[in-house]
Amino acid sequence: MSQTVIKNIGLLVTNNPSLGKTELGLIENAALLTEHGKITWVGANESAPMAEKTVDAAGKAVIPGFVDSHNHLIFAKDRAEEFSARMKGESYSAGGIATTVAATRAASDDDLLSNATRLVHEGLHAGTTTVEIKSGYGLSVKDELRSLHIAKQLTEETTFLGAHVVPSEYKGKADEYVDLICEQMIAQVKADAKWIDVFCDKGAFTTDQARKILLAGKAAGLLPRLHANQLEQGDGIALGVEVGAASVDHISHFNNDDIELLKKSKTVATFLPGAEFSTRSKYPDARRLLDAGVTVALASDCNPGSSYTTNMGFVIALAVREMFFTPEQALWSATKGGALALQRDDVGHLSPGARADFVILKESSYIHLTYRPGVNLIDEVWQHGKRI
Ligand code: NIG
Ligand code: FE
Repeated sequence: MSQTVIKNIGLLVTNNPSLGKTELGLIENAALLTEHGKITWVGANESAPMAEKTVDAAGKAVIPGFVDSHNHLIFAKDRAEEFSARMKGESYSAGGIATTVAATRAASDDDLLSNATRLVHEGLHAGTTTVEIKSGYGLSVKDELRSLHIAKQLTEETTFLGAHVVPSEYKGKADEYVDLICEQMIAQVKADAKWIDVFCDKGAFTTDQARKILLAGKAAGLLPRLHANQLEQGDGIALGVEVGAASVDHISHFNNDDIELLKKSKTVATFLPGAEFSTRSKYPDARRLLDAGVTVALASDCNPGSSYTTNMGFVIALAVREMFFTPEQALWSATKGGALALQRDDVGHLSPGARADFVILKESSYIHLTYRPGVNLIDEVWQHGKRI
């Protein structure tokens, strides 16, 4: 059945200010119509058009599906022991990535695909209807290629992160590994990747190495994004703005110059508070960016090392409780902000013409995502106009 009307929505978040109140485009007592996988109408419940099928939302809130713009889902095994050691006082370093690289290289294609599929489904059932997936635990031509090939089966938002860390066989020869990325990997993976990313940080890649890789990727038609300033203050944000990155991610450290650069650019600032939670690190002062008017996104950074969650409701709760986002800013950043970080205008909002990706919550407001932490508040998830 292609046409469905959702009626009796207590509170509809459209994220389109021209359709309703505030930046969230709120409509109370609303309805929405989907047809052939798209939203074709939103408005007051009493004006709702007839449709082949009617769903009664019974006064509950409806929000756009979450757009989770930063994830590392192609890996094998977990690192629960490393997490436990951290909770007993160890600190996080980029070095743990090597453990997952070894496990990933040893895994079969089927195992990698089924693990990533499990995580995509886990996120989907928690309300994530658009997901970005990075490679980055292969770090050889063959293993990066198969990682992206697997990612491509699960999403159109695929990112080549061959520059996650320097693999052990290139220890002391980082520039040779950078050449391998620029001269061989990019050409081979580009059919399966939309984005190129670099972990530009302590223990990973320098700003100059990152620039070289991002420019080589751009020359091959990949679009840049960047892991920047997770572990220390560096030039990652400036580099992201310089190369026109869609987003600079983590940004656990930033200074006034970074804020000025972001304000003047189209680069989205993506916070990943699941990583601060799981590495027991200080949360960044997000309010300084929000108050400066920088476009901000929230994502889960699902990976086995620094943030093993697919749950955007949890990320929203962290952003509100620990980083002083308002509930409205957090919801917007996890939906429309994520869409902007992926340069997508068809998701992250519920305007006519958008993809019919939405979530019916079990409660009457999105505020409950933070107010009732740890509780499953997802009643129904709709993707491409179909209830999943
Ligand atoms: O985004 N920062 C770099 N990469 C991942 C962590 C990867 C890992 O520890 O396995 C991140 O947090
Ligand atoms: Fe990451």
